[in-house]
Amino acid sequence: MKTRFKFSDSIKLIKSIRTSGTITPSSSVLVKRLLAPIDFEAARCIIELGPGNGCVTRALLARMRPDCRLICLEVNNDFIAELNDLDDSRMHVYNACASSIRAILDELSIQQVDHVVSSLPLALLDDAMVQNILRVVGMNLRDGGKFLQYQYSLKNYSELKPLFSNVKLKFTLRNMPPAFVYECIK
Ligand SMILES: C[S@@+](CC[C@H](N)C(=O)[O-])C[C@H]1O[C@@H](n2cnc3c(N)ncnc32)[C@H](O)[C@@H]1O
Repeated sequence: MKTRFKFSDSIKLIKSIRTSGTITPSSSVLVKRLLAPIDFEAARCIIELGPGNGCVTRALLARMRPDCRLICLEVNNDFIAELNDLDDSRMHVYNACASSIRAILDELSIQQVDHVVSSLPLALLDDAMVQNILRVVGMNLRDGGKFLQYQYSLKNYSELKPLFSNVKLKFTLRNMPPAFVYECIK
C-alpha cells in the first residue's frame, strides 16, 4: 500500500516536532518492512503506538482479519480526527499516552495482545518514560508476541535486548531520514 503524502500532515508533524520527532510521515517501504514480521492470519489484537497521520494504521487495516482489533494510542490531538476518519469498526482510537496501555486494555476487557507496532520517537522521550513504556509493552504482549519499532538512530537498541528473548535489527535507506527497524520477540 502506498503512503499518501499530504502537506498538511507534514505541517502537523513540524508543529509538534518535539513529540513527533520527524517532519514527514514514514515511507511505504519503511511501513512494509516494519509490518513484515506480523502473521496477519493469526493476529487477533494489535496495538499501535504513535499512529500520527495513519500511514502505518492504513497498512495494518488493509491486512488485518475482519475479527482482529487495532488499538491506537496517539498524544497529538491534531491527528485524532484524521484517524477517526478511517472509520473502521475494528479500530479503537485513544488520545492517550503509550504508557496507558494497561488501563485501555482493561476498559476493553482485553488480557494481552498479539503485537505492538510503534512509531514512538523513543530517542526524544525521557529515559524514565521509555523504560516505563517498554515495561508496559512487555507485560501486555502474549508469549511469542512481537514489539515492532522503527528509529532513526540506535539510541535505544541496548535497552530492548534485556526485555525481549530475541531482538532483530534491520535498516532501510528508503525513508526520510533512513531508519532502523527492530523486531523484538517476547
Ligand atoms: C514519528 S511520528 C510517527 C507518525 C506515523 N506513525 C509515521 O510512521 O509516519 C511519532 C508519533 O508518535 C506520537 N507520540 C509521541 N509521544 C507519544 C506518546 N507518549 N504516546 C503516544 N503517542 C506519542 C506523536 O504525536 C507522533 O504522531
